[in-house]
Order: sequence, then C-alpha cells, then structure tokens
Amino acid sequence: MIRLVISNQRGGVAKTTTAVTLARSFADIGRKVLLIDTDSQGSIRTILGLKPEFHLADFLIRNMAFRECVVTACPNVDVMCSNRDTTEAEVTLSNSPFRELTFERLFSEHEAAYDVVLIDVAPSITLSQQCAMVYAQQVLVPVGMETLSLQGAVAAVNAAEALNRFFKKGLNVRTIGLLPVMVDRRLAMTSMVLDSLKQLSTDTGVRVLPVIRTDSAVPKAARVKKFLADFDPSSKALVDYNEAASLLLQSLDTPSDVDEATEAKSA
Ligand SMILES: Nc1ncnc2c1ncn2[C@@H]1O[C@H](COP(=O)(O)OP(=O)(O)OP(=O)(O)O)[C@@H](O)[C@H]1O
Ligand SMILES: [Mg+2]
Repeated sequence: MIRLVISNQRGGVAKTTTAVTLARSFADIGRKVLLIDTDSQGSIRTILGLKPEFHLADFLIRNMAFRECVVTACPNVDVMCSNRDTTEAEVTLSNSPFRELTFERLFSEHEAAYDVVLIDVAPSITLSQQCAMVYAQQVLVPVGMETLSLQGAVAAVNAAEALNRFFKKGLNVRTIGLLPVMVDRRLAMTSMVLDSLKQLSTDTGVRVLPVIRTDSAVPKAARVKKFLADFDPSSKALVDYNEAASLLLQSLDTPSDVDEATEAKSA
C-alpha cells in the first residue's frame, strides 16, 4: 500500500499533473488508485473534465458517504474532487480537537479497497495539506526548473520536518523523492537547478528521481480534459512518469506487507 502526498509550496510546478499522471501510470499496471484533491482550486476536476455531485468538503464535514464523494475517472482510478467548499471545511475543522488527524480518521477505513492513495495539495500550507501529510506520511516533491520552485521544494521538505517536531516521536513524515519536472536540457537554467537539486539531496538525504521532460502534449491533454495516456500514449512525459511510477512501486510498495509475511512465517 502506498500513500503519497504530492507537495511543493510553489504554484504551477506540475503537482496536479504529477498526481494525475502517476495515478494513471499506477492504474495501467493494475493498481487500484484513490486520487484525492485537497486544493480548493479543484484542478483535478477541471483537467480531467469530471462532474462529481459531491466533493471533499462533503466527505469531511457533511457526513456524506465516501462512495458518494468519489467518481471513477478511468478503470482503477477513483477521484475525490475538491472545490471552493474545501476552504470552508478547513475553517470548520480548525476548531475540532486532533484536527490534523482528520484524514487518518476518515480515509483509513476506506483505503483497503486501494493499492495507492495519491493526494494533490495547494501550493500554500493548508490544514488539509497537514492532514494529508499526517495520514500519508510520505511526500513526493516535484521541482520545476526555476529558483522559486527549488525554494518551494525546500519549504515542502521543511514542512514535513516541522510536523514531525510538532508531533514529537509519534510521527515520521518522510520526503521520499525530489522529482525534477518540466525539464528541458537546452535551457541553461535547467542544469543550474539540477545541480542545486543534487546539493539539496546531499543536504537532506532525499533522493533525486529521474527527470520528467517538458512536453507540449501535457497542457494539450489538459485542454481537452484527457489523461496524457489517452491523449498521446507515446508522449515523452508519459514515458518518464511511467518510469517514475515503477521506481516508486519498487521502493515504496508494501514493505509492511513483506514484513508482516516474514513475521507470520517466523511466528
Ligand atoms: N512535463 C510538462 N511539460 C509541459 N508542461 C507541463 C508539464 N507538466 C506540467 N505542465 C504544465 O504546467 C502547468 C502547471 O501544472 P500543474 O497545474 O500541474 O501545476 P501545479 O503545481 O498543480 O499548480 P498549482 O500550484 O496552481 O496547483 C500546466 O499548464 C501544465 O499543463
Ligand atoms: Mg495543482
């Protein structure tokens, strides 16, 4: 089971693209995926052209059943969409005790139906982002090829550490990878940012994943509200995301299941 938050405190660095495309990559190799949008911009709904009746806020604060609040975007991918009401839900939840545990409390009982839970977040640190990090405990940070994106990545890594300090020993949120996105090696800025990323990796111990190349098929697919895999199956960004997905599966998938099986055998 993989739970993963896609986070960078900078806007427009392919967080949503990464969440949606990875979700589809996992789905196409037979994993059941729950994709949760926590950004009140509701971008996943927009770029996939989904028409949910109910949204995240309905699940979080209006006691709507989980099933009512997800829509199936393609085989193996269920999406809980977000809208402006997420902000209202955050205000309501901010007064509740143990508010950071809200996702843990509400999503844990539904996750067994899925192999992967991916959570897209807003560029700013919101309560739902904190809830998502406490629940998933693993963060993937896409980094665009510009300095502000790098700063956003550092902020995302620090936010995870701050949560760990806040919860003392009870929590271990890990940044599991820095994912260079929108990489065009012809641009001078790209090699500068990639060098800085290597340094950040050395400083933090977080590995840099293979790059996702810039590809005009990405915005075009979003414009016609399709997954990249349906719009252009041979797109180079898709090839890169598929590779990232299989790497993530190899390194993150069910170490706990393996441990449990080993423990069961030796018991
Ligand atoms: N590999 C790529 N090649 C070309 N364009 C890309 C690529 N990845 C993302 N984009 C484009 O970059 C823009 C920003 O992407 P996206 O919406 O995924 O970013 P975001 O980090 O989720 O933004 P926000 O912070 O507003 O939520 C979009 O127009 C998207 O189509
Ligand atoms: Mg987004």
